[in-house]
Amino acid sequence: MTIVYSAAAILLIVIVLIMVRTAFVNKVVEKDLFFDDFPETFRTISVFFISDIHRRLVTEKLLDEVRGKADIVIIGGDITEKGVPMERIEKNIVKLKGVGPLYFVWGNNDYEADYHMLDAILLKHGVKILDNTLVVIESDQGEKIELIGIDDISMERDRLDLALSESDRAVFKILVSHNPLVSGQIKDENNISLVLSGHTHGGQIRFFGFGPYELGGMKKQGSTLLLTSNGYGTSTLPLRLGAEPETHLLHLKKSVAGKSFTI
Ligand SMILES: [Fe+2]
Repeated sequence: MTIVYSAAAILLIVIVLIMVRTAFVNKVVEKDLFFDDFPETFRTISVFFISDIHRRLVTEKLLDEVRGKADIVIIGGDITEKGVPMERIEKNIVKLKGVGPLYFVWGNNDYEADYHMLDAILLKHGVKILDNTLVVIESDQGEKIELIGIDDISMERDRLDLALSESDRAVFKILVSHNPLVSGQIKDENNISLVLSGHTHGGQIRFFGFGPYELGGMKKQGSTLLLTSNGYGTSTLPLRLGAEPETHLLHLKKSVAGKSFTI
């Protein structure tokens, strides 16, 4: 019996060690995404998308992989959670700012922190907060891309209608929402080409392929491409299993013959 208990204890320790190790993986998923309606004069827009940093410190190893390759950086919410020192959040913001201009949407866990202070830090470092609003990015030739962001859905602070009220239907659109449930609000007539989300952590801990949420990935919904990231950090304890941390470096381009969405 003692041997059985010892074997079980060793197995448990090994699993926990694997979980801790997995939680600190640095992964950049790099993809070319082709869209029929992408404004050609941009040629390519490269987006570094990082979501759900939570308690983690963004590593130099990760930044080395994306530095010099991204036109913009989008933080998809949950840059923090309760109990994370503000200095760590600020350090992460400064690090990410070194990659490119920063855009941010609020996540549910951000509201557990002193979010007035977080707001002040974001503004201090020139981070554009997309809270039910949009920004327009213009090419040298005057073509436009709308980058739209909504506030958190689970906190009932989201107003996609408001964010879209100043939108030009004809313009190529990227929507950022911490919570992927935004897909239920999107209509084909909104003409949103790409949605970037996080929140689910890919289930964070999955046993035999099962977890509380599905794994992150890409899906098509009508003419919209939905990306849900597993996120970079973890809630509370640095433990992951079967759902590696991930960030994304996305190169958005106009479709060429035979190439449309790549999933
Ligand atoms: Fe999160």
